[in-house]
Amino acid sequence: MKIVFCASEGVPFSKTGGLADVVGALPQALAANGHEVQVILPRYKATKPAKVHPNGRSVTLALSGSFRYANVQDAGESGGVRTYLVDLPQYFDREGLYTVNGKDHPDNHLRFAAFSLACIEFLKRSGTAPDILHCHDWQSALLPVYLKSLYRGDDFYSKTGVVFTIHNIGYQGLFPPSILPEISVDSSLYTMEGLEFWGKVNLLKGGLVYSDYITTVSRKYAEEIQTAEFGYGLEGILAKRADRLQGILNGVDYDVWSPANDKHIAAKYGPQDLAGKQACKKALLQAMGAASPVLDRPVIGIVSRFAAQKGFDLIAGIAEQLMAMDLYIVALGTGEPQFEELFRTMAAKYPDKFLVRVGFDVALSHQIEAGSDMFLMPSRYEPCGLNQIYSLKYGTVPVVRATGGLDDTIEPFGGKTGTGFKFSDYTPEALLGAIEQAVACYRQPKAWRQVMINGMKKDFSWSNSAKQYIKVYQAARKTKSELKAASAASNA
Ligand code: ADP
Ligand code: GLC
Repeated sequence: MKIVFCASEGVPFSKTGGLADVVGALPQALAANGHEVQVILPRYKATKPAKVHPNGRSVTLALSGSFRYANVQDAGESGGVRTYLVDLPQYFDREGLYTVNGKDHPDNHLRFAAFSLACIEFLKRSGTAPDILHCHDWQSALLPVYLKSLYRGDDFYSKTGVVFTIHNIGYQGLFPPSILPEISVDSSLYTMEGLEFWGKVNLLKGGLVYSDYITTVSRKYAEEIQTAEFGYGLEGILAKRADRLQGILNGVDYDVWSPANDKHIAAKYGPQDLAGKQACKKALLQAMGAASPVLDRPVIGIVSRFAAQKGFDLIAGIAEQLMAMDLYIVALGTGEPQFEELFRTMAAKYPDKFLVRVGFDVALSHQIEAGSDMFLMPSRYEPCGLNQIYSLKYGTVPVVRATGGLDDTIEPFGGKTGTGFKFSDYTPEALLGAIEQAVACYRQPKAWRQVMINGMKKDFSWSNSAKQYIKVYQAARKTKSELKAASAASNA
């Protein structure tokens, strides 16, 4: 199959969170199964392609009643996957992928409408229609909308199956209805069955309504988003399309995330030889400025977007109790000001135990995975979560809330089996209970070694999930050819 990913971020070109890791790795796992896979991303200011190849194309986009020109650059092939970058400096050559100084770019609707149209036009000009267009989150949710409206009569895309993946239903791309003419969407789509959502235009909803199949990134989250607690108002539409909705767990690119070959860490290690992990712990504590590192004190690592989703209000509730315990917190993150403030304040108050870096730092994120003893993810909701899965391979024992992908990937340690510590109630007390349990286990070296090794032996590589995606693609193609046959018959 010819499969094309259209997404707003992907490593190594751009990244704010886990979407980028998925878009960087899943296409390669699909290519390894013999498929032709391409990825199309915006070219941001921070996007640094190693080399731009000459066979790019320029495309014309009709938006807001005028024409814009995008240059779609060929950024080369890696792991059997070719990546194209939509170069539209007016929209993408600026600070911040989606926000700047904590605020959304005011023209996000135009930016991602232009990106979506550029993908559609570029593929048309390339001559061969994709069998599958795979779109991700609200930023590329306009592709299915355009294919069902502006390009409805266009034979080129008539056999293309469209798959839409929800990485996070908490971000929906909500805009006032006045944007519709600006993004070339006809007002006839602004209905309850279409893009309308409580008086606003909801772009994510467009992706859910107009795609052939919908996936999300864990089995449990696929169930959760059909409920009012987790669906953010879209539970009804998802329940209606439940026969087209599937949860497929994200995988891990172990070429990037493994202590056996991680280029960012102080010493390599694996389950047979854990000595390197202690060296990584020492290096991490030193890098974070611990005055005289105490190596038998457990380090609890955090690497996260600082967003309400991630459960930091729970940490705020027990921060003082944590600091009364014999442990270190090492946190890296950036995001909402109130959480940045919380972490900065705690770091200032406990400079030897609460070690914080506010910012986005890929190398440090790897060093925290390797140098910590435990990894904390107390999320309110978590579609999949990648860091807890990375942590397993690094022998860094996850302490997680039992929600979404965290629940699907971490089994509670029961003395022999299990890979981490889990709590269910969204309360500071429940979180504290799980941390106390983990710290008590850490003090029993034999049991601790067991839980570490159990996790390190787990395999979450992409190959299994890639096979599940291929089945969804095949179903989406089948739906499309049946639809085409049906419409040919009715026109005959
Ligand atoms: P989400 O996509 O919701 O942010 P995930 O757990 O799926 O959560 O993925 C987060 C990804 O982003 C991981 O690769 C993590 O290491 C990375 N990450 C998050 N915050 C930072 C940061 N401040 N610096 C570097 N990497 C980060
Ligand atoms: C989202 C989710 C996260 C998931 C990631 C990749 O950002 O918040 O849980 O792992 O997408 O699918």
